[in-house]
Amino acid sequence: MHKTPHAMIYGTGRSVPEKVLTNADLEQIVDTTDRWIMARTGIRERRIVEPGTPLSDLASAAAREALDNAGVAAEEIDLIILGSVTGDMKFPATACIIQDKIGAKNAVAFDLSAACSGFLYSLQVASAMMAAAGYRRILVIGAEILTSMVNWQDRDTCVLFGDGAGAVVLGPSVDNRGIIHSCLGSDGSCANLLFNPGCGSVNPPTPENAAAKLHTINMAGKEVFRHAVTAMTNAMQQVLQEAGIAPEQLNLLIPHQANLRIIEAVAKRFHVPAEKVYVNVDRLGNTSSASIPIAIDEARRAGKIAPGDLVGMVTFGAGLTWASSVIRF
Ligand SMILES: CC(C)(COP(=O)(O)OP(=O)(O)OC[C@H]1O[C@@H](n2cnc3c(N)ncnc32)[C@H](O)[C@@H]1OP(=O)(O)O)[C@@H](O)C(=O)NCCC(=O)NCCS
Repeated sequence: MHKTPHAMIYGTGRSVPEKVLTNADLEQIVDTTDRWIMARTGIRERRIVEPGTPLSDLASAAAREALDNAGVAAEEIDLIILGSVTGDMKFPATACIIQDKIGAKNAVAFDLSAACSGFLYSLQVASAMMAAAGYRRILVIGAEILTSMVNWQDRDTCVLFGDGAGAVVLGPSVDNRGIIHSCLGSDGSCANLLFNPGCGSVNPPTPENAAAKLHTINMAGKEVFRHAVTAMTNAMQQVLQEAGIAPEQLNLLIPHQANLRIIEAVAKRFHVPAEKVYVNVDRLGNTSSASIPIAIDEARRAGKIAPGDLVGMVTFGAGLTWASSVIRF
């Protein structure tokens, strides 16, 4: 292992809505079955917010928990990066609203848009800003209310997504612990496989566009599935190779929680046994940029990640975007 970490995780937190939407509930909304959803995705239920809930509320709750867990005061935070595509408003950046809600008055705050790769992209940007620009206490949040852009009449997509937020506090590396290496990738030529065409400059929110449901998620499921398995496998391969780490050295693999079949395909490729693969997609569905930080927090609090453990993470999302990271906790 020849990479020297700059930033390490000092604390983690998460927040998911209380309301549970089960597959049985979805059977009442669209033409689907629990059997189909379980077989094709591994999702049993997901958490959803009450309509109109601000993303900044969920994200701030996760951030406060991470600060508390790290023993860091909000005033000590000098940078906040929120990975999200479902912010409170088009502008300002939701990171600024979170800054105000948690009282991080000394922080610079901005949002980063990379869909389901938003958290790992943000983590890499944060690590680079610590190394190159001297930030010392950074809050990185992945938070999403994807149900705000779900078309509840489209059974191809509405069964997949849930809401949630996860956060980590980064500080300077100690004892060679921290983010050892990360790899990011993008392919805009496939932007039309997974997108929300409405509310932007192309399709502003006119009554006609709203009636045509242009502000909802459009997805070519089969194509996305194929790209996800290939991109996540390649990204994992690259990060392990460049960091000089063998798959069997990983104590835990945290893949993006989009679909159990994608998770199992990636784990199988690297011969990672099931007990070393973190899975919560059955309980939470696909929470996009929140999926990895929620999983990190759950795993730490359940004792599945101990200090010194080597954890691999890999994700994939709209853009297309993908990212991988190896972290010594
Ligand atoms: C969406 C996904 C679960 C669909 O699974 P699939 O095996 O590809 O299924 P298909 O799209 O081929 O559909 C098979 C059949 O099931 C039907 N179907 C689709 N959604 C359904 C649902 N919720 N309930 C019941 N049937 C459904 C289709 O209409 C199709 O019927 P047909 O054969 O009569 O045309 C899968 O493609 C997937 O997970 N893709 C990746 C999605 C993702 O992870 N996106 C986020 C990336 S970050």
